[in-house]
Amino acid sequence: MSIKKIGVLTSGGDAPGMNAAIRSVVRTAISHNIEVLGIKNGYKGLLAGDIVQLKSRDVSDIIHRGGTILQTARCKEFMKAEYQERGADMCRVFGMEGLVVIGGDGSFQGAEKLANLGINTVGIPGTIDLDIGCTEYTIGFDTAVNTAMDAINRILDTSSSHSRCSIVEVMGRNAGYIALWCAIDTGSEIVILPEMHDITDDDIIKNIVENRNRGKKHFLIVVAEGVGASDALAHKVEHITGIESRVTVLGHLQRGGSPSALDRMHASLMGVHAVDLLVEGKAKRVVSYVKGEYVDYDINEALKMKKELSQEMLRASKILSVK
Ligand code: ADP
Ligand code: F6P
Repeated sequence: MSIKKIGVLTSGGDAPGMNAAIRSVVRTAISHNIEVLGIKNGYKGLLAGDIVQLKSRDVSDIIHRGGTILQTARCKEFMKAEYQERGADMCRVFGMEGLVVIGGDGSFQGAEKLANLGINTVGIPGTIDLDIGCTEYTIGFDTAVNTAMDAINRILDTSSSHSRCSIVEVMGRNAGYIALWCAIDTGSEIVILPEMHDITDDDIIKNIVENRNRGKKHFLIVVAEGVGASDALAHKVEHITGIESRVTVLGHLQRGGSPSALDRMHASLMGVHAVDLLVEGKAKRVVSYVKGEYVDYDINEALKMKKELSQEMLRASKILSVK
């Protein structure tokens, strides 16, 4: 039996490309004569019934815009079974025969709960953090990492002019992907990641002193926010080496901005894939990008998958940072 109506929501931290994904879901559904309901503010809006119909024109002129036209939210209540059941009831009341959830792994856990309550959910990975185990790509990462890289380039101009040590903290919650990419792409001397358990302040200072002895005058340390303690590190570096040190926390500027071509493309194709799954009667799935192809996994299995940092990238960052 063909489906007639689906919902779509964005949840968790917004990511550039979410709008392109919403647009793709809406237009693909309409091409199958399926009506689309846009749920505002993630699970919060689902519980509140903050739901509007989305037609093709409603998603015009959004492919190039960062953020999410549906707004997003973090909804603590949704962690509780009682609210998940209410969410499932809301999907039924509004006649949704499928629900596309665009977000990170937290949002997918919400989708999994709804799926276990009989709602046909499909997840599209949307987070700048790239920390979803089942997929090699998450919408927003490319734009965020380019924004962070661009900001670091600017910091390098002033850092080199003053012969300083710049410590730049980038986003990524407990995952080091943005930091590792930024470190390699900006040629930082040191990268400090939540996944690294063996790097000490003494190692960092030794590295700076060795590089200084080779003639290096300014230094860049990229720190993933999950590690934190950047101010204390700056203080220590300055105190021990005498090199003036400054901390910049890039923060939310990394989450905004017009999505890159890569993010628009992944978002567009993942949106088509998600709706195709619902049309084929497949649900409880997460759309993923693996080895150059769009695939999908059972949501329960997907959430069990762990992502390891690339050893090849870690090795390259070490080799290439010796000046
Ligand atoms: P992200 O989706 O970017 O990882 P969060 O981890 O903040 O972001 O999760 C977004 C929202 O998903 C939460 O505010 C909550 O509404 C829902 N969520 C997260 N974890 C769970 C869970 N274990 N059960 C149900 N809902 C969850
Ligand atoms: O998950 C995306 C992300 O930007 C993380 O990198 C960061 O830790 C977090 O969201 C910040 O959340 P908030 O916008 O609530 O401060």
